[in-house]
Amino acid sequence: MPPHPDIVLPRLIAHRGLSAHAPENTLAAVRASFEAGFHWVELDVQLLGDGTPVIWHDPTLKRCSDGHGQIARLGLAEARKLDVGAWFGDAFRGERMATLDEMLELLSSLGMGVNLELKIGRNRSATELADVVIPRLLASLPPEQMILSSFDLSALAHARTLADASRLPIGVLTESVPQEWQPRCEALKAFSLHTDWTRLNATRAREIKDAGYRLLCYTPNDPAAFVRHWTWGVDSAITDDPSRFAGIAPPPEPPGR
Ligand code: G3P
Ligand code: MG
Repeated sequence: MPPHPDIVLPRLIAHRGLSAHAPENTLAAVRASFEAGFHWVELDVQLLGDGTPVIWHDPTLKRCSDGHGQIARLGLAEARKLDVGAWFGDAFRGERMATLDEMLELLSSLGMGVNLELKIGRNRSATELADVVIPRLLASLPPEQMILSSFDLSALAHARTLADASRLPIGVLTESVPQEWQPRCEALKAFSLHTDWTRLNATRAREIKDAGYRLLCYTPNDPAAFVRHWTWGVDSAITDDPSRFAGIAPPPEPPGR
């Protein structure tokens, strides 16, 4: 294994911020996660049409704002006018779309960790997104407080050309673990593999752990159903509602395993 940072990975990572209790991928959702005691969050990043990196999941605006249309056709000034909190609840009315810069500043000020997921929309450039995001990420947080992930292998391959394994921990994100998972992880000098918890099995989980990779699962929200995954060696659950797992998730592993 290449020399990775000694990340003290928590058992529970708040998916899109504390998204069961606050509008996903917002500053409010990250503050809520911190206040609830969950100091690592997973967040999605993509580019507006004017090239500004923002924290947003969907290619469109409709589900999580009072606007509509494509993210790729929006400029920052228009994005700022959107309400991205009211759809979730009145308490969040007036919440604004977070730029990556704002989010990194908040994470840094709170000393939080982030699993930042590069979201590559259809017909959008993986390398452009990585070129914009990686320098900002590296400038804002120490390597022990970050994992960069993506379903898009070309985005991760490009990210790896921008920083080595000791500076940029990479997580290979898959819907189900493919046969060729190990050469893919090796080629990227990956730190971790992240997969859909419903499609993982014990044999594959042990293979991944035995090869020395951290193993993360998204998005379990039923702690009872997830109990056996901990026994398979899964390191962390990326969940919408980490507080549900209180007293059920095992204690954190020490760094440098
Ligand atoms: O990074 C884990 C998970 O967030 C991947 O799926 O669609 O929720 O971004 P999605
Ligand atoms: Mg995500």
